[in-house]
Amino acid sequence: MTLDEARARDAADPLRGFRQRFDLPEGVIYLDGNSLGALPKATAAAVADLTTRQWGERLIRSWNEGWIEAPLRIGDKIARLIGAAPGEVAVADSTSVNLFKLLTAALRANPDRRVILSEAGNFPTDLHIAEGVVAGIPGATLRVVPRDQLAEALDDKVAVLMLTHVHYKTAERFDMAAWTARAHEVGALALWDLSHSAGAVPADLNGANADLAVGCGYKYLNGGPGAPAYLFVAARHQAALVNPVSGWMGHAAPFDFADGYAPAPGIKRWLAGTPPVLSLAALEVGVDLMLEADPALIAAKSAALFDTFAAIGDALGLECVSPRDPAQRGSHISFRHPQAYPLCQALIAHGVIGDFRAPDILRLGLTPLYLGFEDVVRASAILADLLATGAYRDPQYAARHAVT
Ligand SMILES: Cc1ncc(COP(=O)(O)O)c(C=O)c1O
Repeated sequence: MTLDEARARDAADPLRGFRQRFDLPEGVIYLDGNSLGALPKATAAAVADLTTRQWGERLIRSWNEGWIEAPLRIGDKIARLIGAAPGEVAVADSTSVNLFKLLTAALRANPDRRVILSEAGNFPTDLHIAEGVVAGIPGATLRVVPRDQLAEALDDKVAVLMLTHVHYKTAERFDMAAWTARAHEVGALALWDLSHSAGAVPADLNGANADLAVGCGYKYLNGGPGAPAYLFVAARHQAALVNPVSGWMGHAAPFDFADGYAPAPGIKRWLAGTPPVLSLAALEVGVDLMLEADPALIAAKSAALFDTFAAIGDALGLECVSPRDPAQRGSHISFRHPQAYPLCQALIAHGVIGDFRAPDILRLGLTPLYLGFEDVVRASAILADLLATGAYRDPQYAARHAVT
C-alpha cells in the first residue's frame, strides 16, 4: 500500500473521527494500545472535575452524587461491550484480584471438582493467581497443558476451564462458544480473560453461554494506567457464588455496619473495598468513547489494518505468528524475529512504539479508534529501513537515534 492509497483509505474510514478524540503526541505512531491505551481528550477534564468540583467542593456528599454507584454503573456500560446483560458486570480491583475471587468462588461452590485447567503460556498472572488459589484449597490442583492438549485434559475433575480469549503474545483467539460448550459438556465452568478482547474484537459472553469473565480497563478501553478491572458473573450463577474477598462494599447493607458478612444479592457482592473513584472517572471516559463506536466497524478496521501490516511483513520476509483468519485472532500483530528486542528499541527510537515479548516477539497493537492506514504504512517504512540496513543491531543504535 502506498502512502497515497493509505491516505485514501483513512479518508474513507467511517471511524476516522475518533482519532481526534485522543491526545496523541506529534511524531509518534502508537502501536501499543493493546498494552496501555491512549489518552482520550475528555479524560483530563473529567478527572479535573472529579478533583476540583466533586472532591474539592462537594466533598463527602459526592458519594451520594454518583460515586457509590460508579462500579456497577460502569460495569453495565462494559457489559454492552462484551455481550453481557445489565447487572452481570462489576468494575473492581485488578484483573489479577478478580481472577482470585472468581476462581476461589468457583472451587468453593463445587467441592466434587478440584481442578483448574488452563493453557501453558497463558498470561502469567492468570496462571500465578490460579496457583495461589489452589494452594489455599485442600486437594485443589492447577492443570496447565499446551493448547493442543486442552480438549484431552478437560475431564470431569475440572471445576473451571480458565482461558484467555485473545492470547497476549500471538493474538490467537479461542472460539469462546465452542470452548464454553466443551467445558459444559464435562460439567465445568468456563472463565474467560477478555483483557485483549474488549474494545478490540467481538466478545459475546452470553451468546457463548460463558459463566465467568475478567478483563483489564487500561488496554483497548483506554481507562488509563492501572485502570480498575471488571468481572462478569452470569446471572444464573450469581446466587450460588460468593466472593471470598468478603469486604463491606459487597455486603447486602454496608452502612448498617454489622459485624457479620451477608453478601449483597447480584453482582454487587463482587465488590470488596472502597472504589477507586479517581481511576473510575478516567475509565468511564474511555468506556463511553468506546460505546460510541460501532463494534462491527472496529472489527472490520482491525482486520484491514492487520492485513495491511501482514502483507508488508510478508514482503519484508518477517515471520508473522498471529493467525491470518480474522475470526481466529485479536487486534495485534506479532512477528517473530531473532533480534526482536533491539529491533523494537530501534523502532521506538524512531517514534514507532510497539513492544517486545520475550524471547523473540515484536508485538504491534492495532487500535482501530486512533490508528490509521497511514500510520501502518509509515511504521512499516521505518521497519523496512531498519531491516534493510541492519543498523538496529548496534547496541548503541536506539540511544543515538532516540526521539526526545
Ligand atoms: C490477558 C491478561 N490478563 C491479565 C493482565 C494483567 O492483569 P492485572 O491488571 O491484574 O495486572 C494482562 C496484562 O497485560 C493480560 O494481558
